[in-house]
Amino acid sequence: MTRIVFIMPDSQRIEIDAQDGLSIMECARRANVPGIVAECGGACSCATCHVYIDAPWCGVLGEAAGMERDMLEFADSVRENSRLSCQVKVTPDLDGLTVHLPEGQV
Ligand code: FES
Repeated sequence: MTRIVFIMPDSQRIEIDAQDGLSIMECARRANVPGIVAECGGACSCATCHVYIDAPWCGVLGEAAGMERDMLEFADSVRENSRLSCQVKVTPDLDGLTVHLPEGQV
C-alpha cells in the first residue's frame, strides 16, 4: 500500500492507503474522496479527475503529455502541475504523494 494525500480547496486533508498498480483516480474513488468524479471511468476523456500535483512531487511525476495533455484543455483552472489522476499509476515510490483538488471541482 502507498499513502496518497488529497488536500481539499478548504485545506481539509484526506490520506488514503492506495493500492499499487491502480490509478490515483481509482484509489480515490474507492476511498470516496470528494471531487474525483471520473465520469469516463478512466478513459482519459472527461477531465473530471483533475488534480494539482504538490510541488515537490512534480519532478517525480513529470508533466502531462499526449492524450492527457489534450484532455486537460477541457479542465478548469489548469496549471503547470495539473494532471489527470486516472493517468497516474500508484507505485511504491509515490508513498506520501500529495495532490490538491481544484477549487470548484469539490
Ligand atoms: Fe475521465 Fe480521468 S476519469 S479523464
